[in-house]
Amino acid sequence: MKGYYHLAEAFLRIFEAMTLDLKDLTPTEKQNYLQHAIAPRPICFASTIDREGNINLSPFSFFNLFSTNPPIVIFSPGRRIRNNTTKHTWQNVLEVPEVVINIADYNMVRQISLASCEYPKEVNEFLKAGFTPEPATMIKPPMVKESKIKMECRVVEVKALGNEGGAGNLVICEVLRMHVDQSVLDEKGKIDQRKLHHVARLGGDWYCRVDESNLFIVEKPNTLLGIGVDSLPASIRNSKILTGNNLGQLANINEYPFVDPSFEDDHLQEIIQYYSVNPDEMEKELHSYAKKLLDEGRTKEAWQVLLVG
Ligand SMILES: Cc1cc2nc3c(=O)[nH]c(=O)nc-3n(C[C@H](O)[C@H](O)[C@H](O)COP(=O)(O)O)c2cc1C
Repeated sequence: MKGYYHLAEAFLRIFEAMTLDLKDLTPTEKQNYLQHAIAPRPICFASTIDREGNINLSPFSFFNLFSTNPPIVIFSPGRRIRNNTTKHTWQNVLEVPEVVINIADYNMVRQISLASCEYPKEVNEFLKAGFTPEPATMIKPPMVKESKIKMECRVVEVKALGNEGGAGNLVICEVLRMHVDQSVLDEKGKIDQRKLHHVARLGGDWYCRVDESNLFIVEKPNTLLGIGVDSLPASIRNSKILTGNNLGQLANINEYPFVDPSFEDDHLQEIIQYYSVNPDEMEKELHSYAKKLLDEGRTKEAWQVLLVG
């Protein structure tokens, strides 16, 4: 009896979410759970200089864009959990508030990782990691020639988030000038997302690469409002076949669709012909077919199929 009880308890636990109160975790555990959960994170490959002219180059994945006008990016060289020491990058921006943010791409990722070694302050990671320094045009730290996008930035504020190991230091930067390699531009002079193979950091030693095999488009109506999942008929909303993504796609139209009498589809005709005597089976077939169309990005056709139901 006891055995059954334990089995049932273990079975129930599979369906329960694990709850973590951050105050009960060690700094290393906090880092581990947060870095695996908040991922992937873009990588800022930061080039800085101290007042003696020593150059530093280090990667930071606590990094993102926070404002476009003014153009503000923030990255965070934190205090080491191990011994509460601070990063040279942080020390440098306090002395010379300038940084080149070189955007990391797949071709550079192993050299970037090498640049994250804790070399002494006077060691230049351009040399250690094998990158070519290229003079910046507005600020002192050099750019990484091999990087496809470089941003010359002025540090507007440095904000410490704590004094203990693991505490971040926000380096708030205004982007003054960008240099974008021709090879990642389209014919209109815009960055082609397919050409720049970003890499990003996840938890532990995991990275990911962005390329055409994993890029996809989610259309967003900018000014028109989607009807919303709550406006979908219950039979669609509660479908066992359509997924959350499918419902999001269907509800993203800005007005409820009408049956289009000119819509012709052989497979739809077959479903109607074979299943009209059995409404439950017909609904299943219609939903499966609509799902296939939605997965192919054919939202209008999927709606016509569902409207038959
Ligand atoms: C891809 C990658 C991302 C990193 N992101 C961060 C980060 O966001 N913050 C941080 O403090 N350290 C980060 N590190 C570790 C630093 O790069 C590392 O501590 C480096 O030695 C700091 O160099 P510095 O002392 O010369 O500034 C990262 C390392 C790698 C490889």
